[in-house]
Amino acid sequence: MNITIVGTGYVGLVTGTTLAELGNSVYCVDIDEKKVEGMKNGVVPIYEPNLEEMFHRNIQSQRLFFTTNLKEALDKSEVVYLALPTPPGEDGSADLSYVLGVASDIGDLMTEYKVIVNKSTVPVGTAEKVTEVISSRTDIAFDVVSNPEFLREGFAVEDSMNPARVVVGSSSEKAKEIMSKIYQPFTNTGIPIIFMDEKSSELTKYASNSFLAVKITFMNEIANYCEKVGADVDKVRLGMGSDDRIGHRFLFPGIGYGGSCFPKDVKALIKSGKQEDFNFQILEATENVNVAQKVILVSEIEKYFEGNLKGKKIAIWGLAFKANTDDIREASSLDNIDLLLKKGAEIIAYDLVAENNVRNIIGDQIQYAKTMYDALEGADALFIATEWPEFKNPNFELMAKKMKSKVIFDGRNMFPLEVPKQNGFYYKSIGRQT
Ligand code: UGA
Repeated sequence: MNITIVGTGYVGLVTGTTLAELGNSVYCVDIDEKKVEGMKNGVVPIYEPNLEEMFHRNIQSQRLFFTTNLKEALDKSEVVYLALPTPPGEDGSADLSYVLGVASDIGDLMTEYKVIVNKSTVPVGTAEKVTEVISSRTDIAFDVVSNPEFLREGFAVEDSMNPARVVVGSSSEKAKEIMSKIYQPFTNTGIPIIFMDEKSSELTKYASNSFLAVKITFMNEIANYCEKVGADVDKVRLGMGSDDRIGHRFLFPGIGYGGSCFPKDVKALIKSGKQEDFNFQILEATENVNVAQKVILVSEIEKYFEGNLKGKKIAIWGLAFKANTDDIREASSLDNIDLLLKKGAEIIAYDLVAENNVRNIIGDQIQYAKTMYDALEGADALFIATEWPEFKNPNFELMAKKMKSKVIFDGRNMFPLEVPKQNGFYYKSIGRQT
């Protein structure tokens, strides 16, 4: 099948490459000329494990194309995926201007029947709005389908090639048939495709992300309580997760959730609720708890240094909002850096993958180290903000040699509790005894 993807961010690029891998001819459209030129020359604009190989393979097989010309791509495709940003507006609601803007262009440019597939995370009722905008521009028949994306950054290729489920919201039999055909390689291998109406499909995405944000936040509160009563969250987590109604995943406490999705989607669902005079109390609590959780270790650092962080050298391991990505949007590292700098600390950070993105935002307000051990030179304390695998089993002897004092604040519970202690370190993690 010939498919157009509008928007080549994480979701658009991964979806486009996956659909090409499944044998379709895919035309990826973006307004960013430099990015499109780069992709034509084989440059993958994001860091995502295993994407590069699949990207090159499909360009070589002439199934994956890039253009800034929407008309050219539309003329070749029956199906058009929208994978556009829906950033939070000032009031927290999702800003639909990109989605509706492209919908209006499609209405102006289309010359025959199209299925418009919404992959962007959008509030309930957006399929209706997209339909209205296109109908106001053309008399040609079309269908709008909701097909939310559930991939995780860092596992995007794995998730999109082997999704837990495909959700399709559509009230048109013709569109359903076309979507079934596109996802046949999945259904053939037993991956379910769940059909529903457009609104339920749109809400499924927000409900899934919000539920996971609540699950993490619940565990963070249990972790904070563990510290008060002398329990160990690792044990509690294992005990709880073994009940398969609860499950082991997304029960890892830490310094809060971040990224481009959970914070934005929780806010957007709260806001959508308010518009219907509905209070998502559990989500409001989740958001508030998460804001505090992100910087929960700063008060511990202050306590350790008896309220004076002036001139204290803090090494930070990890800047990305989670491991295996260069994405720093809503990363807890940034909140902590901001607060520690305000309190007079000096910061030297290490994250080879995400460093450039942080430099672009805060520049030389902090120093950057080339290796994880370089960051520790003369440090008064180490703060771990991202769970990169390379931090899991460090050389504690070398760390002790480099650091001024053997002190670790671990926001991601990277080590078994006893290991840093056996190596003579003061070790403060989340939900476990110090
Ligand atoms: C999330 C969802 O997991 C995807 O299903 C969804 O498609 C995506 O948002 C989206 O809406 O596009 P992602 O933002 O890539 O994916 O990141 P996650 O792996 O879900 O992690 C989110 C945050 O939760 C990270 O800050 C992570 O450190 C934190 N987290 C995760 C925890 O603190 N504890 C956990 O146990 C798991």
